[in-house]
Amino acid sequence: TDQKIYRASTTAPVNIAVIKYWGKRDAKLNLPTNSSLSVTLAQNDLRTHTTASCSAKYPAEDVLVLNGAPQDVTGARTQACFRELRALRKDLESKDSSLPPLSSYPLKIVSENNFPTAAGLASSAAGFAALVRAIANLYELPSNPTDLSRIARQGSGSACRSLFGGYAAWEMGTKDDGSDSVAYEVAPASHWPEMRACILVVSAEKKGVSSTTGMQTTVATSTLFAERARDTVPKRMKEMTEAIQKKDFEAFARLTMKDSNSFHATCLDTEPPIFYLNDVSRAAITAVNAINQAAGKIIAAYTFDAGPNAVVYYLQKDEKEVAGAFKALLESKDGWAGERGAAVEVNSTGA
Ligand code: PMV
Repeated sequence: TDQKIYRASTTAPVNIAVIKYWGKRDAKLNLPTNSSLSVTLAQNDLRTHTTASCSAKYPAEDVLVLNGAPQDVTGARTQACFRELRALRKDLESKDSSLPPLSSYPLKIVSENNFPTAAGLASSAAGFAALVRAIANLYELPSNPTDLSRIARQGSGSACRSLFGGYAAWEMGTKDDGSDSVAYEVAPASHWPEMRACILVVSAEKKGVSSTTGMQTTVATSTLFAERARDTVPKRMKEMTEAIQKKDFEAFARLTMKDSNSFHATCLDTEPPIFYLNDVSRAAITAVNAINQAAGKIIAAYTFDAGPNAVVYYLQKDEKEVAGAFKALLESKDGWAGERGAAVEVNSTGA
């Protein structure tokens, strides 16, 4: 029999949404209630590195190791990704009998994050994007980022956007089978190379309410949510796309902050309420407002995901005012993490 070990590696970056995904219309396929848009951070700052391998001589069960610890692979999300990728490989094998039958071999996936896992720093996004692309490379699938985004979405919704660099949108789609719920590039990072992100690691602990549970409860109980999904987000997707195309930072920043506030407002409107922001998060919001007021225009924008950590977007020319003021203002708080609080560049490629 075939004794070979087949192997492929890749990295995928973290993305931070400026128009948030919050709400599923189909929890099994991870189909969202609204489209979303994100900025992909630079690979050397926050990323997942993944090696996928398979072999006929591996023990029968698929294995996933994250930061040295074995993970449960029996969850529906991971299984969906494995199943879809294996089916595509099987297709190739059935058309070309000279190909080794990798689709029938057990998989071993080894991933490393260079940042805290599940602390609202989009670890699942980079994680599933890297997992899907590593296996696609291992299987030598002729798939493009859009096809892979359809599969990664089933692992974690936001993962579909991490297959693209720069500015990526996830189109919610209209079909029940999810075939049109995919990510696409709005603009490459090179379109707006002055963009910077500063990350305040307020807490590296695991988040209290998982995004899946939080979304389900919000959809079921919040009245603010319905309006957000129906009217607010579709309008903002257009405005945000335009702001990025025109490189209009003030418009980009205002929309980013408004959408973060709107998302956390629907969390507060959930029964029972969900609190992702804490006192340090609120101090960061106050600091951004003070920076903008002092500048006489908007030069910084905060956004928060399902956790207390702040991501602040700004342009390189305003580095001193933004990153500098932050350090001074928040130094007394525990949350300001020196090293990871450093500015990170926006990623230039998704690949
Ligand atoms: O992809 P998930 O299921 O971890 O959900 C991510 C949700 C937010 O990070 C809060 C928003 C987003 O669009 O990334």
